[in-house]
Amino acid sequence: MKTLVILAHPDIESSKVNKVWKRELLKYPDVITIHELYKEYPDWNIDVPREQNLIETYEKIVFQFPLYWYSYPPLLKKWLDDVFTYGWAYGSKGDKLKGKKFGIAMSIGDKKANYSKEGPITFTVDEIIAPFKATAIHVGAISLPYFSIFGSSFKASNEEIEQSAKDYVNYILNENNN
Ligand SMILES: Cc1cc2nc3c(=O)[nH]c(=O)nc-3n(C[C@H](O)[C@H](O)[C@H](O)COP(=O)(O)O)c2cc1C
Repeated sequence: MKTLVILAHPDIESSKVNKVWKRELLKYPDVITIHELYKEYPDWNIDVPREQNLIETYEKIVFQFPLYWYSYPPLLKKWLDDVFTYGWAYGSKGDKLKGKKFGIAMSIGDKKANYSKEGPITFTVDEIIAPFKATAIHVGAISLPYFSIFGSSFKASNEEIEQSAKDYVNYILNENNN
């Protein structure tokens, strides 16, 4: 089963993590398709029928992005607002996302220890991605566990990033997530 990766990074050329992740995914064109929102829509004028047709042909969709202000970059928000329409994604006849699997792959700037109830942020990553999980429920999709790398701003070494790229491919291809 092929996976569609919706990649949302406003400046992938200057990226450390998402660029390496993308490079690794590109080695698997038979099973992974990358759809880069900031490349496809530099004017933010999203072609909704095109996006909906694309999604309909995949059973598994992974949203890949850097965590920005405990959320995702704004073009991904616009994409969700535009593409997940009434009568297509939800509503009495909107069943096109029903049963699809939704994953998340996030690069997180801060260290892992900070994302706990006791840490300075006081929220776990699972709590931060609640809007995604609620969206999946609303459209009848199945939320997969998220994939992430922490410390992506300064702490993560090139080796760690390279390893995380391999782990990310495994996350996508993992039987349990299929
Ligand atoms: C506008 C902006 C907001 C950010 N907000 C957060 C945040 O809320 N939490 C966090 O841990 N890191 C945050 N970061 C750090 C990014 O998550 C980090 O730079 C990114 O994951 C690195 O990925 P990249 O090398 O692919 O760009 C932010 C960075 C930017 C530029």
